[in-house]
Amino acid sequence: MKRPARRLCSVLLLALFAVTLAFRAVLRRGFIGSFELEQYGLARRQVPVFNSSVLRYAEIDGAEEKFRRETQQLLEGKFVGHPQFRRFATRRRFANYEPNGKINMVIQVSLAPRYQRYVQDFRRNLQDWLRHKRFEPDVMNDLIRLVKHPLDRHGGLVVSDRRYASCAVVGNSGILLQSERGELIDSHEMVIRLNNAKIKGFERNVGSKTTISFINSNILHLCARRERCLCHPYGVDVPIVMYICQPVHLLDYTMCNSSHKAPLLVTDPSFDMLCARIVKYYSVRRFAEETGKPLEAWDAAHDKVYFHYSSGMQAIMLALGICNRVSIFGFGKSESAKHHYYTNQKGELTLHDYRAEYDLYHDLVERPQAIPFISDKFKFPPVTIYQ
Ligand SMILES: *[C@@H]1O[C@H](CO)[C@@H](O)[C@H](O)[C@H]1NC(C)=O
Ligand SMILES: *[C@@H]1O[C@H](CO)[C@@H](O)[C@H](O)[C@H]1NC(C)=O
Repeated sequence: MKRPARRLCSVLLLALFAVTLAFRAVLRRGFIGSFELEQYGLARRQVPVFNSSVLRYAEIDGAEEKFRRETQQLLEGKFVGHPQFRRFATRRRFANYEPNGKINMVIQVSLAPRYQRYVQDFRRNLQDWLRHKRFEPDVMNDLIRLVKHPLDRHGGLVVSDRRYASCAVVGNSGILLQSERGELIDSHEMVIRLNNAKIKGFERNVGSKTTISFINSNILHLCARRERCLCHPYGVDVPIVMYICQPVHLLDYTMCNSSHKAPLLVTDPSFDMLCARIVKYYSVRRFAEETGKPLEAWDAAHDKVYFHYSSGMQAIMLALGICNRVSIFGFGKSESAKHHYYTNQKGELTLHDYRAEYDLYHDLVERPQAIPFISDKFKFPPVTIYQ
């Protein structure tokens, strides 16, 4: 080898050595490491924003006692006392002739004969559901399997872990009127609509495509008439995802599921629990900051037993789990806008804390690392809110 060539070689070798040393130093100091962590959303806990008393308070489920009582009764076959059960019941009057000559009229309420054949499946569904009712911070990573896989199967597609490229969650706020967002909404790969909101006549503002109809079980209870379930305003082929508000609604579910063509999926109770804790956290934190009162005063200020996250909140959480990009429409409020774009309902329901939920959506866009209870393993997709 010629001399200049040899010199060039040693210079190159030296340079390579120097670069290796520098690279190792960088690695040890964590520059590259933390860059990657940030990129994959794993360095979330670097932001110390959680107040442990608020976290602990948010973990308390105010409806626990009522829930336990009701499920116990249902498992024992005592349907009496559930106002929501009236539809399934028959009432029979009996005369009790007592030895002292008195006649007591007794009313016995029981499941109407035409619903008897659902009882066994109802009990099994209720027990399955109860088994899953536990806190599970990793459930966000399970939503692909729980929700997207059944939808793939239904659509005749290869079941895959691929997330939807883009999703639109369409809330029902009156701010959608005159928004002209219809085309933009329909351009998403997947569109979730809420609680059977009407689209006919509103297409220009809300679009017309529906991939998932997300409802709460009160909605199903209302449309599950007799043995026919007329619960598909978007077409019988559109899958429904539903969360259970009251355990007795699993009877409506059991009845409807047997006749439903498209999937009728009940959200995993651990997913419900995660949503409940997150919303309560934001509500309690806002309450403490605004009033300066002790956390325990939150119970009286809110309906401790009936407090609940909104359907829209859980639909957004679902989208986070199965989409690469999430767009949120129709979730804002304004003085002039109607509560729902398609009804004249005036007020908001007091069992929700919409302001707390907006705090959450704000964090989703700006700093998802500030959202509590979700496993560090979950990678949040980017979120855009359209006002
Ligand atoms: C609901 O119906 C589907 C389709 O008929 C069935 O595969 C599924 O097992 C049912 N689910 C329950 C919990 O009964
Ligand atoms: C947590 O929040 C509560 C209620 O706002 C407050 O009283 C308490 O001082 C906070 N704790 C910390 C460590 O900031």
